[in-house]
Amino acid sequence: MPGAGNLTMAQEIDRVALNRRLEFYRDLGIKTLWSGPSAGSASSQPETAAEPPPVALPATETTANALAPQNQRIVPIQVNSPLPPMLPEDDNLERIVQDMGDCTRCRLGRTRQRIVFGSGNPEARLVFVGEGPGADEDEQGLPFVGRAGQLLTQMIDNTAAREGLAIRRPDVYICNVIKCRPPENRTPEADEMEVCGQFLFRQIMVIRPKAIVALGGTAAKALLDLKTGITKARGQWHAWRDIPVMPTYHPSYLLRPYNQNAKRECWEDLKKVLHFVYD
Ligand code: URA
Repeated sequence: MPGAGNLTMAQEIDRVALNRRLEFYRDLGIKTLWSGPSAGSASSQPETAAEPPPVALPATETTANALAPQNQRIVPIQVNSPLPPMLPEDDNLERIVQDMGDCTRCRLGRTRQRIVFGSGNPEARLVFVGEGPGADEDEQGLPFVGRAGQLLTQMIDNTAAREGLAIRRPDVYICNVIKCRPPENRTPEADEMEVCGQFLFRQIMVIRPKAIVALGGTAAKALLDLKTGITKARGQWHAWRDIPVMPTYHPSYLLRPYNQNAKRECWEDLKKVLHFVYD
């Protein structure tokens, strides 16, 4: 039997594979892994008492645990426990919806009316990521259908038309960092974004767009390791893994009457993105 720090070749291979997987999750912004019936795949099973004792690995319990049913706790990662697949080989949007199920992984599951997964062309070359559903979206189960959504639709349709591009809103894909409406439209909490983030990241990996537009500071922070605010970050290309990301203002911010300059800047950002993606 090998002692601590003296691993067999097979254990060393396991360790390297596990570290690679944890790095992958960290890249995705996932610090906590969900272990429950709907995590990873529809057939995932809850942890059982028969599993080997945990080995210390980086993962934390979150306050979402307080709300999760007993068999759906967010647990520290355990060696040999079934990790959610890095990316199911045949992953697709329907499967992600299925895996989310009637999600109650965080507190927002108690107050939302509908999960707002995303809408648009599942093979879009351009994906827009907002913050989270508002009241209209919560009611209809669709992203960006309220006032901010109408402005976003106009921005996409009109900018493309003016630039001579035959692109309209249904040609792109639109989703949010979190899929359930926060009460009073408050900013999502870090643990809510963490738990929900895995679904956004799978969505992006499935669609594999040529570029992403991050609408507002929350989306920009969720996708990018930003040290600056949206005002500084907007207008320049960043990257999420190998996909170019353009942060810009959130349409709700542009709806405020004194933000004419921001509106102009946002239009410029969108022009840049549309030409990059569709020229
Ligand atoms: N604001 C968002 O960030 N997302 C929506 O879907 C609607 C408003």
